[in-house]
Amino acid sequence: MTNPVKTALLQPRHGILTPIYRELRPMEHYMLQDHLIRLSPETRAWRFGGPVSERIIVNYARNEGQPMPIICGAFIGDTLRGVVELRFDRDKPRHTAELAISVEDDWQDIGIGTRLMALALRCARDNGIARLEVNFLPHNAAMRRLAWKFGASFSHQTGLTKGIFSLSGRNFADVAGSKRPQ
Ligand SMILES: CC(C)(COP(=O)(O)OP(=O)(O)OC[C@H]1O[C@@H](n2cnc3c(N)ncnc32)[C@H](O)[C@@H]1OP(=O)(O)O)[C@@H](O)C(=O)NCCC(=O)NCCS
Repeated sequence: MTNPVKTALLQPRHGILTPIYRELRPMEHYMLQDHLIRLSPETRAWRFGGPVSERIIVNYARNEGQPMPIICGAFIGDTLRGVVELRFDRDKPRHTAELAISVEDDWQDIGIGTRLMALALRCARDNGIARLEVNFLPHNAAMRRLAWKFGASFSHQTGLTKGIFSLSGRNFADVAGSKRPQ
């Protein structure tokens, strides 16, 4: 059922900025750090699977020793309010990646996460990623719902839920993000 509040918030209106969704250029990757620091402690804990300090975020955002990620963002004005990262592990094949997503507290539950996921999956396919996974705490209902909408299959291990998107399925693009996920 259409949620009238969400619908109203997503329509362009005078005085309200509509989010712009796009991939970040490498020279813009520095913005990730400030976005993650702006998350509330609770949202950060959902994002990282436990509490994290600013110092840990600064180290994480440096990404030292790891391949450059693909980062897509939702900009409201000039500020990056939502992010989806596709991260590669140098010890794993390049056609696999891990997805992580975050939307700042005051912008959650108005559809930004859904738009970011659609963009990230398109970027993943454009970059030859065939298998994408997202790991999250088992009681993270928003992430579970989001992954389900995009056709993830789920497994559980070591206190985390793993959602797996198989991007090579022939019909994936036809149904991903619809009310009829794979
Ligand atoms: C997960 C997250 C990115 C979702 O972003 P969002 O912008 O709120 O997502 P949307 O508004 O597009 O909502 C996606 C779906 O989740 C549902 N949802 C949103 N918040 C929810 C909540 N707290 N509980 C249950 N469902 C929720 C929405 O209703 C929507 O479902 P629908 O399309 O059937 O209505 C956001 O909640 C977040 O940043 N969480 C913290 C970080 C995190 O948990 N990351 C995952 C691990 S990497």
